[in-house]
Amino acid sequence: MIPQETVQRIIESADIVEVVGEFVSLKKRGASMIACCPFHNEKTPSFNVSPSKGIYKCFGCGKGGDSVKFVMELEGLSYPDALRWLAKKYGIEIKEREFTDEDLKNQNEKESLFIALEYAQKYFTETLFESEEGQSVGQSYFKERGFSDLTIQKFNLGYALQSREAFFKKAEKAGFSMEILSKGGLISGLEENNIKDRFRGRVIFPIHNVAGKPIAFGARILKPDPKAPKYINSPETEIYVKSNIVYGISQAKNAIRNLDNCFLVEGYTDVISLHQAGIENVVASSGTSLTPYQVRLIRRFSSNITVLYDGDAAGIKASIRGFDIILEEDMDVKAVVFPDGDDPDSYIRKVGGAAFSEYIKNNQKDFIRFKTELALEDIENDPIKKANLITDLVATIVKIPNPIKRSVFFQEVSQILDIDEQILIIEANKLLKVKTTETKKGDGGVISPQPPVRNLELELAERLYVNNAQEEALIKDLVLYGHVVIEWDEDTKEAFTLADYLIGETSDLNIESPVFRKIYDLYKFHFINQKQVPSSTIFTSNVDEEIQKTTINWLSPKHELSDKWSNFEIFIPKYEEILDEVSYKMVLRIRIEKLKKEVAANILEIDDSSEENTDILLDQINKKQSTIKLLSEELGAII
Ligand code: UTP
Ligand code: MN
Repeated sequence: MIPQETVQRIIESADIVEVVGEFVSLKKRGASMIACCPFHNEKTPSFNVSPSKGIYKCFGCGKGGDSVKFVMELEGLSYPDALRWLAKKYGIEIKEREFTDEDLKNQNEKESLFIALEYAQKYFTETLFESEEGQSVGQSYFKERGFSDLTIQKFNLGYALQSREAFFKKAEKAGFSMEILSKGGLISGLEENNIKDRFRGRVIFPIHNVAGKPIAFGARILKPDPKAPKYINSPETEIYVKSNIVYGISQAKNAIRNLDNCFLVEGYTDVISLHQAGIENVVASSGTSLTPYQVRLIRRFSSNITVLYDGDAAGIKASIRGFDIILEEDMDVKAVVFPDGDDPDSYIRKVGGAAFSEYIKNNQKDFIRFKTELALEDIENDPIKKANLITDLVATIVKIPNPIKRSVFFQEVSQILDIDEQILIIEANKLLKVKTTETKKGDGGVISPQPPVRNLELELAERLYVNNAQEEALIKDLVLYGHVVIEWDEDTKEAFTLADYLIGETSDLNIESPVFRKIYDLYKFHFINQKQVPSSTIFTSNVDEEIQKTTINWLSPKHELSDKWSNFEIFIPKYEEILDEVSYKMVLRIRIEKLKKEVAANILEIDDSSEENTDILLDQINKKQSTIKLLSEELGAII
C-alpha cells in the first residue's frame, strides 16, 4: 500500500497538462487546453483539459477524470499502478510500508514473484545472446523463423538451456528462495525433493502484463516431437491468471487505441510476425477460447476486434462459438480467414505487411455474416440443418446487448438466408423469454427484453429524481462556488461564504441520493474540521469513482460562454454574482419539497395509527403545512 501522504503528494505534483501532454499534443483555447481525444477516434478536438482544475473531460466520448484517472485509462493500469507511474515521472519516492502483517506477506510475495519473473526473463535473454548453446540453438531457431534482433528484443525472447539446473542454481546464488521460484512456476519438483528447471532446451516467449512486466513464460520446443508438447507454459500463479491476460497487450495497446481496432490471433508467433511487418495492433488468445476478462482488457483500448483465423476449416468451426463472448461484451467483431493452410504468421511472411493489410481489408466480414456464410457451405439444401443454423444464429444475435445492432443483424441474416425477418424475431423472443425466466432464478442473466413495467418503485424513483435535481443543484453549488463571498461584515471584517450559508442552512437536511450525500458529507467534514472551503481536487481526485465522475461533470460545463460573447457589450449576469439570491431560493425549495414528502408520509401513517397517535400526526401535518405555506410565500415573493 502507498502511504496516504505519498498519494496526496503524487496527486498534488501531477500536472494534468504535463501528464496528458505526454500522450497528445494540447493546444490552448481560452482557459482550457484542447486536443483530439486519445480515447476515441475523432477529427475535431472535443477533449478538454482544465489546468486550473486539474481535470480532463471529453465531450465526445464522455471520459473524464484527473491525472491519475488519465494514466489508469490510457495505460490500462490499476489505481496504485497509476500512482506509481506518476511517482516515477515526478521523482517521488514511494516507501510502501504501512501494511498489516497479512498485507505485507501477500504484497511481499507478489512483489517477490515479479522480481523473480523479471530475473528469469533477463536470464533467458542473456542465455540466448551470450551462451554458446543459446547462440547456436536458440538464435538459429529464431533466425530461421525470420525474427530480427530488434523483434527479439521487443518481445524479450530468450532461450532456456538443456540443463536441468542451470537456471535455479544461478537464481539461488542470486538470493532467490526455492519457494519463490516454485511459486513463480520457474522450477518443478520442490515437494518431491527433485528440483528441476521447468523450461529446458526451449526458446522462451515471455508473457507480459498490461504494464509490461513479465508474469509468465511460454517455452517452445525446437523440433517437432510427438512425445513432447509443443509449448510448455507457466502454471497459473499469484501474478499470472491466464484468463485475465492476452499475449502481446503491452506491446500492442497504443496501436490498438490509435487504430481503434485489435487483431486477435491464436499464437505467440503470429503476434510477433505481424509486429515485425509493422502491424502492431495484435494480441493472441494463446490457443484457448476467450474469456470475458480478456475481452474487457482489449475493450480498454478499443471496442473493435478483428479475429484472424488460421486457414483450416476444422479449427475455425471449433473456435467459432467462443467468439460469441465478444458480442456479449458489446464489441464489434469482424472475422477474416486466410487461404487454406496459412496462419497469420506464415501468410504475412509470404506476402508482406502491405498485402497482408490489403487482404484483411478486402476479406473481413462482420462476424454474423462470417458465421452464416461458413455454415451455409455445409447445409446443401438440408432443411433441418438450415433450421438449426437459424436457431444458432439467433442465439448469437440475441447476445448483442445493443438493440439497434441486433436489428441490423436480423436484417442481414434475413437477407443472406432469404428468410422472413419476423421469423427470426419470433425465434429471438422465444429465447429471450427463456432468458428472462432464467434471470428470475437469479443467475444474473443478460438481457431484459420487455420494457420495465411501470410500477410503484418506478413512480417513486421518478419522484425522487425531482428531489435529486434539487439536491444536485445544492451540492454542485457548494463544490463549485462554496468559496464565493456572499456577505462581508464591515465591523468584524469577516467574510461570509456561500459554504457558510449553505452548510448552516442544510446541516439538518437528509440528503437522499447516495452519491450526493457522499459528496456533501465529505465537503462538510473538510469544512468543519479544517475550517476552510475544501479544494475541488478532494472530489475530482477521489478514489470513489462515483464522486470523481459526478464532480468532474460539474466542473466541465458543456455550455461555457464562448470567447466570442465577450466582444459584445451584452450584460449576462455571472452565476457567481447572483449566487446569494439563487442559493436562498434553492434552500427554500429543498425545504418545501422535503416537508411535502414528510406530510405525505405522515398521511400514510395515519391509516394504521391509534386514535391518540392520529391526533399527534394531524397536529404535525398542520404545522408542516403552515410552514410550507410560509416558505412558498417567501419563495413567491422573490421570484
Ligand atoms: P500454434 O500451434 O498455432 O502455435 O498454437 P504458434 O504460436 O503459432 O507456433 P508456431 O508458429 O506453430 O511455431 C497457438 C497457441 O496455442 C498455445 C500457444 O499459446 C500457441 O501460441 N499452445 C499451443 C500451447 O499453449 N501449447 C501447445 O502445446 C500448443
Ligand atoms: Mn501457428
